[in-house]
Amino acid sequence: MKILITGASSGLGAELARQYAKPDNELILLARREDKLYALRSELFELCKSVEVIIADVSDFQPLQEKIKTITSLDMVILNAGISLGHSSDSDNIPTIEEFENLYRVNVLSNHAILEVLLPLFKLQKSGKIVFISSLASLISMPSSKIYSSSKRALNAYAEGIRYKYNKYGIKVVNILPGFIKSELTDKNEFNMPFILETNVGVAKIVKAIKKNKREYIFPFRFYLIIRLLNLLPSFLREKIVNSLS
Ligand SMILES: NC(=O)c1ccc[n+]([C@@H]2O[C@H](COP(=O)([O-])OP(=O)(O)OC[C@H]3O[C@@H](n4cnc5c(N)ncnc54)[C@H](OP(=O)(O)O)[C@@H]3O)[C@@H](O)[C@H]2O)c1
Repeated sequence: MKILITGASSGLGAELARQYAKPDNELILLARREDKLYALRSELFELCKSVEVIIADVSDFQPLQEKIKTITSLDMVILNAGISLGHSSDSDNIPTIEEFENLYRVNVLSNHAILEVLLPLFKLQKSGKIVFISSLASLISMPSSKIYSSSKRALNAYAEGIRYKYNKYGIKVVNILPGFIKSELTDKNEFNMPFILETNVGVAKIVKAIKKNKREYIFPFRFYLIIRLLNLLPSFLREKIVNSLS
């Protein structure tokens, strides 16, 4: 299987590369940090058929697309690259419009920049799997992470539309909504993260869901249940609870 993983230089992306490092697999690892990607390539290349590295900034669409166009066949893309603004519970800072725009470029728009190139290839092949890495945070908006939450909610809507439209071409779409998993991204959070999972444990769950072609996989289940219950409450009550938690 030939797999492109974006955001492969750390966290979930690097661990996904490790868990897909099998003799039959060809990996393409994409991110900005060259040293991290080449270190990962050295770690994995003997375990796989091949490991290719693409150094690219996903928010710089034109050069990104040029690099994606060099891929002539692919079985799966895992659209994992993503950022948060870091969540400080007591911060009154208002994110700048530049921060907002950059977050949307990375978390939302870059996925279309990549798929604009890959969808014609998948259609031609009559096969291909697209995996989106969304977040449980897309299901509820906390005051400290509203921009991140909104970007992932936008991603959910986009993923759903892509699934409906391209199903008939043999293209599978999997949307993953994880809770907290240890990574550089969660290291920035200055609050208690309920049900946080070790990276390898969280990623193993993701790999299993991808294998099963789950349309949507939301985990950990207990955390999902709490958010579902919160969302069932009248909005004034939910607001009180959310504000007391943040
Ligand atoms: N960890 C969690 O609890 C959690 C929960 C839900 C969802 N997620 C999602 O999981 C994904 C991976 O996050 P993570 O937790 O593994 O965080 P991470 O360790 O910070 O990894 C983020 C990855 O994205 C890449 N990236 C960021 N900006 C980029 C850019 N402009 N161009 C190219 N690559 C870029 C980074 O590589 P470079 O810096 O080298 O470019 C890095 O490889 C994100 O989409 C995140 O929203 C994480």
